[in-house]
Amino acid sequence: MRAVDIIIKKRDGKELSREEIEFFVNGFVRGDIPDYQVSAWAMAVLLNGMTDRETTDLTLAMAHSGEILDLSGVVPIAVDKHSTGGVGDKVTLVVLPIVAGCGLAVGKMSGRGLGFSGGTLDKLESIPGYRTNLSKQEFLTQLKEIGIVLSGQSADLAPADGKLYALRDVTGTVPSLPLIASSVMSKKIAAGAHAIVLDVKTGVGAFMQTLEDARKLARLMVNIGKLSNRRVVAVISDMNQPLGFAVGNTLEMLEAIETLQGGGPADFREHCLVLCSHMLVLGNMASTLEEGRAMAEKSLDGGAAWKKFRKLVQTQGGDVSYLDDVSKFERASLIETVRAPRSGYLLAVNAKEVGEAAVVLGAGRAKKGDPIDHAVGVIIHCKVGDRVEQGEPLFTIHANDATKLAEAKDRLLRAHQWSEQPCPPLPLFYDVIAD
Ligand code: URA
Repeated sequence: MRAVDIIIKKRDGKELSREEIEFFVNGFVRGDIPDYQVSAWAMAVLLNGMTDRETTDLTLAMAHSGEILDLSGVVPIAVDKHSTGGVGDKVTLVVLPIVAGCGLAVGKMSGRGLGFSGGTLDKLESIPGYRTNLSKQEFLTQLKEIGIVLSGQSADLAPADGKLYALRDVTGTVPSLPLIASSVMSKKIAAGAHAIVLDVKTGVGAFMQTLEDARKLARLMVNIGKLSNRRVVAVISDMNQPLGFAVGNTLEMLEAIETLQGGGPADFREHCLVLCSHMLVLGNMASTLEEGRAMAEKSLDGGAAWKKFRKLVQTQGGDVSYLDDVSKFERASLIETVRAPRSGYLLAVNAKEVGEAAVVLGAGRAKKGDPIDHAVGVIIHCKVGDRVEQGEPLFTIHANDATKLAEAKDRLLRAHQWSEQPCPPLPLFYDVIAD
């Protein structure tokens, strides 16, 4: 077999066999197939797509490119969640402690932000000392002892995804349905959870811009999970406007802390509770979504979730005094609130533009490995459907550089679109896909 023949076959829109896919993935991981050939292949996949069978074979080949964790010896049932990426998506920070507070073990390996979408690891590192590089043994021990782990992706798990994602990021091949499905599910299968809730985002601030594509991606990932004996449910949620109000690492951590203490934005709290209900049902803790929701509310409002979060931060080396006194978090030097330039109803708060404004300020990375500024970001004050009067606060920029602040302000003003007529709020969820 030759890599070039596999590239040509996909370029010509033909279906690859399992053997060809395994040859390609294994050759790439071993270093026998160079980056330029893999890049050409990824572009052919993006342009010509893959059948569900090919995507499943690709996922399994990527999952088996490294170690597969077995959590069965550690906890009776472990659940995980994964979001396909969004703006203001600090859901993991709240959902994991709520679920763990109900007694269901949650072990998650999260990623860093890339482009306009944020990453949980960067948000966690706004707490000084928090370790995101746990070893496999530390991950397993902590899961067993405290029932909650939130760390970075171990290099031994699905190494094909780590290598391929880095190439996709610089070759314009991220927004491909088979490549996203295999990337997400190979990691999830390798990380060993028995049950997985997928949060598939759709809208202007998501990789899947249409509901139809988001449904296809969700269905495919659920089916792949089933083939690997994992229980998977996918919710399809809105990413046309940011989730909650805060965008930026420390700002999102503060919003997550506020939510874990019983406050926080209503849309964000609701989103978290819905995800928790699904996780509790999949993890056999609740028999219906209503029961799951009641358990999640009790964990959140009764303080169990907050206690779990403190324990998580403490166990992973984070300075818990920051949780007790949030004024200790480092803040940006320039904070400016921008007021509504007109009166009207908000038709759009473009999530992609808001995410990109946060990247301009330094909250995100243009490329992998770039440093980030934890303190900077944006707080939006209004959501789609709100009636806003001229002069009311519209958004607040947290910056450490006046030029960047001015650029972000232009983008954010453009992100807000107005209507003379009342317009409905955006839904939080569009669909649920289960097997
Ligand atoms: N999230 C992932 O883990 N992989 C992708 O390809 C896209 C989003």
